[in-house]
Amino acid sequence: MIYLIGSEKGGTGKTTLATHLAAMCAVSGKEVLLVDTDKQESATFWANTRAVTRGEKNQRPDITCVTKTGKVGHDIARLAEKFDVVIVDAGGRDSVELRQAMAVCDYMLIPVRPSQYDIWSLNHMAILTQEVAEKVGTKINAHVVLNSCSTHRSVKESDEVRALLMADYASDFGLLDTQVGERIAVRRATRDGLCTVELDKAHADPKARDEMQQLYQEVFHGIRPTA
Ligand SMILES: Nc1ncnc2c1ncn2[C@@H]1O[C@H](COP(=O)(O)OP(=O)(O)O)[C@@H](O)[C@H]1O
Ligand SMILES: [Mg+2]
Repeated sequence: MIYLIGSEKGGTGKTTLATHLAAMCAVSGKEVLLVDTDKQESATFWANTRAVTRGEKNQRPDITCVTKTGKVGHDIARLAEKFDVVIVDAGGRDSVELRQAMAVCDYMLIPVRPSQYDIWSLNHMAILTQEVAEKVGTKINAHVVLNSCSTHRSVKESDEVRALLMADYASDFGLLDTQVGERIAVRRATRDGLCTVELDKAHADPKARDEMQQLYQEVFHGIRPTA
């Protein structure tokens, strides 16, 4: 199965969620390959860092990451035959890599921050998914996840964004029940080439861990979080 984490917008958390999901697949015993199609190679740096920091006893699973650019569709499809899961991290712009990955993926996850700029960018994403769908002859199985949401209970911003997305894009994208908060633990895990589930006791954040576990369950097993 090929999972694409992509959007045309930069800085929405694509690499963060791609690397987290890859690590959680590996922790769950899946054979996972991370494919970095972004010339900035952030996912590649994360995987290299992981190779160094994953613990003296190598208790955390290693993750293979390959960099691919250009017409990546055929290569991704071929690699998917050898792994349980391929996770593709796409750069934040309309590119040949993004379009080709969209054409071959089984599931596309579009991280969106609850900001107006991110929401506006979905207009283009809806057009892009329709264009690629017409080319391949099937609908793109695309889902939006809200990322970097405020963790303050009083802030209702993400509820408003959810309502707006349901009203305007229900026919284009699914909307995950899981939403990911803006959390220091996410950045710390990223820095060390880990996911929040793998942080040691001193740095673990149960909320950051549970959210990522919910994301993993909803994306890979269709299990929605219980309120
Ligand atoms: N849920 C989150 N909590 C905290 N920081 C986050 C979260 N998601 C993303 N970030 C941070 O936001 C920045 C952009 O994320 P990144 O994954 O690089 O986005 P993209 O790949 O879409 O350009 C990075 O500094 C990353 O650490
Ligand atoms: Mg990125």
